[in-house]
Amino acid sequence: MLDIINLDKTFVLDGQETNKKHAIDHLSLRIEEGDFITIIGSNGSGKSTLLNLIAGSIEPDEGQILLDNENIVTLKNHRRSRFIGRVFQDPMLGTIGDMMVEENMFLANHRGKNTGLAWGLKKKQREAFRNMLEPLGLGLETRLGERMKNLSGGQRQSITLTMATMNSPRLLLLDEHTAALDPETAKIVMQITDDIVKKAHLTTIMVTHNMRDAIRYGNRLIMMADGKIIFDARDEEKAQLTVEELIKKFSEKTGDVLPDTVILNK
Ligand SMILES: Nc1ncnc2c1ncn2[C@@H]1O[C@H](COP(=O)(O)OP(=O)(O)OP(=O)(O)O)[C@@H](O)[C@H]1O
Ligand SMILES: [Mg+2]
Repeated sequence: MLDIINLDKTFVLDGQETNKKHAIDHLSLRIEEGDFITIIGSNGSGKSTLLNLIAGSIEPDEGQILLDNENIVTLKNHRRSRFIGRVFQDPMLGTIGDMMVEENMFLANHRGKNTGLAWGLKKKQREAFRNMLEPLGLGLETRLGERMKNLSGGQRQSITLTMATMNSPRLLLLDEHTAALDPETAKIVMQITDDIVKKAHLTTIMVTHNMRDAIRYGNRLIMMADGKIIFDARDEEKAQLTVEELIKKFSEKTGDVLPDTVILNK
């Protein structure tokens, strides 16, 4: 479904050719339809860069990204947004605070479509939005006319998630999308995520610093270090992993210890 072949990206820091960071190091990865992959790794290991390369917000120096056998590397960011849904860490980024919930959803519904933006929501559409928000269990279906900025971070993130998945993307990319929430809210949003992914059978890549979540959710777990995949477990093997084993695995492979930002999240 998605075939990443020999992907490579080096950043030149401060415009100095002598100061470079090899962020993605000849990385290859084959993702099957319906895979829900969790990615863990230390800070700066290249997780977000990998997602940015897949989404097209940055270009690789080398390598191919084949979606259904078509190389999408030269396809611009906005063209890829037709088939890629994304949610980032910051709950303020995914939606527009000064606009109403339903206006945000209306915009998301039109993203990547050729139809013109005819303002004014039809009754039917409002009903459809209500039906999308109802299963979240947060009571948001009664707040379509609320300004987004009046909602909590968890509520906003749940709506962003709904917006990112409403047009059935081929691929859903989540970059630490629960990391800025308090632990209780993070749990709720994580459960909502799992429900949405399962219901729509979405092919999903989720970066997380929460090792328990990385083990609990999805069917495949990937560990990254220095722009490479150093561990890849799926199905039964993944289901049986423990946080302790992951910490050990990281040390074995890198000769380093996982930093507190990751370990404390267990
Ligand atoms: N646009 C950029 N310009 C320069 N360097 C960058 C850029 N984006 C990423 N890098 C560098 O590439 C490396 C990988 O960064 P990346 O953001 O992918 O890490 P990460 O695994 O997502 O880390 P974290 O867990 O902290 O989010 C880092 O050293 C980072 O500083
Ligand atoms: Mg990151």
